[in-house]
Amino acid sequence: MAYRVIHWATGVVTKEAVIGVLGRPDLEVVGAWARSAEKDGRDVGELYGLDPLGVRVTSDKEAVLATPADCVVFTVGRNWVDNPMETFGDLLRILRSGKNVVNLWWPTLVYPRAQDDELFKQLEQACREGGSSICTIGMDPGYGTAGLALSALALARGVKSIEMYQFMNNAFWEGEGITKFFGFGQRETTHTPILQPGVTTGYHKTTLHMLADAIGVEIDEIVEDHSVIYADEAFDVASGHIPAGTISGLRYQVKGMVGGEARVIVGHVERLREQDFPEFEFKGDGYRAEVTGEPCIRLDMTLSALPEFVGDPIAVASAMSAVNAIPRVCEAAPGVLSLLDIPPFPSKNSTTRF
Ligand SMILES: NC(=O)c1ccc[n+]([C@@H]2O[C@H](COP(=O)([O-])OP(=O)(O)OC[C@H]3O[C@@H](n4cnc5c(N)ncnc54)[C@H](OP(=O)(O)O)[C@@H]3O)[C@@H](O)[C@H]2O)c1
Repeated sequence: MAYRVIHWATGVVTKEAVIGVLGRPDLEVVGAWARSAEKDGRDVGELYGLDPLGVRVTSDKEAVLATPADCVVFTVGRNWVDNPMETFGDLLRILRSGKNVVNLWWPTLVYPRAQDDELFKQLEQACREGGSSICTIGMDPGYGTAGLALSALALARGVKSIEMYQFMNNAFWEGEGITKFFGFGQRETTHTPILQPGVTTGYHKTTLHMLADAIGVEIDEIVEDHSVIYADEAFDVASGHIPAGTISGLRYQVKGMVGGEARVIVGHVERLREQDFPEFEFKGDGYRAEVTGEPCIRLDMTLSALPEFVGDPIAVASAMSAVNAIPRVCEAAPGVLSLLDIPPFPSKNSTTRF
């Protein structure tokens, strides 16, 4: 029998998740919740330009909670940046209703025990009440910056450090959001949101603690550092003009220190031109896990798309990290899970399109 799946929220990543569920013989879509009333009553397949599925979207939370299902793919949008408590209660209610959750919302829940003791206890309590489990995956935080590292660590001894990086070319993003967030096109970093003290720690501290627990060390301090590069000549990207002499890329690291040594490190390289940051020798968009130990291991993972694919391959990877984990999360004992707790979850999805 297939695991019955509900999609909670109907945005960009959900589309990729729905296609992913439809492509797995062991999963079936049985429901979908949307915030906006305009989507009420629409067929889930038709909403995404697919064949009709005979499953209707509803904006009625009670109706969704009452729908028998094994798992909810939880993909509410980015309100976790400013107001996560607006949505945290829904997550608890779903778990209390007895449904497992694979979560992409509020990505730092990738390792909730390291995030906030009170929230972790609430999640645990909800799982106990519902006999359910929750696992947050995604790419970063998630499979890109933690799962890849766990894979490399399987082969090592004498681990001195583990470093994880995301590499992203932001030249193709439209709109000003990314440009403002990373400070591209600005002359200095005083007001760059991502570089304000504590911001990168906030994004990555749960990943650091997950990996520290994985290798059996305890972080006693988290240290941030960053550097930016400036455009040697003016150029244009999808979001606007980058004048010569302004910020055209940045790299940062967040380091989990143990006894004065950086043992667990997560970083980003955000660029606008492929040739920038040549010292990393990383081409394209993707992730790196690097173990310094016996042996030294480097795993580079790039994500790209087949020529006929329309969309964002990283959105697909994010969605599939959750969809492919559904059977593992449903099979696990009730509780709050992380990538440390579930076996590998390979795709059973051999079609490129539903
Ligand atoms: N860890 C990772 O690597 C990773 C990668 C990608 C995405 N994510 C996370 O996955 C989630 C979904 O991403 P996405 O790109 O699909 O987002 P999206 O398209 O912007 O939004 C998803 C849906 O959430 C609903 N929504 C937005 N704000 C809401 C609110 N305040 N309360 C309730 N519902 C709300 C919207 O519903 P309506 O359309 O009905 O208004 C929207 O369709 C985000 O939280 C994102 O951070 C994580």
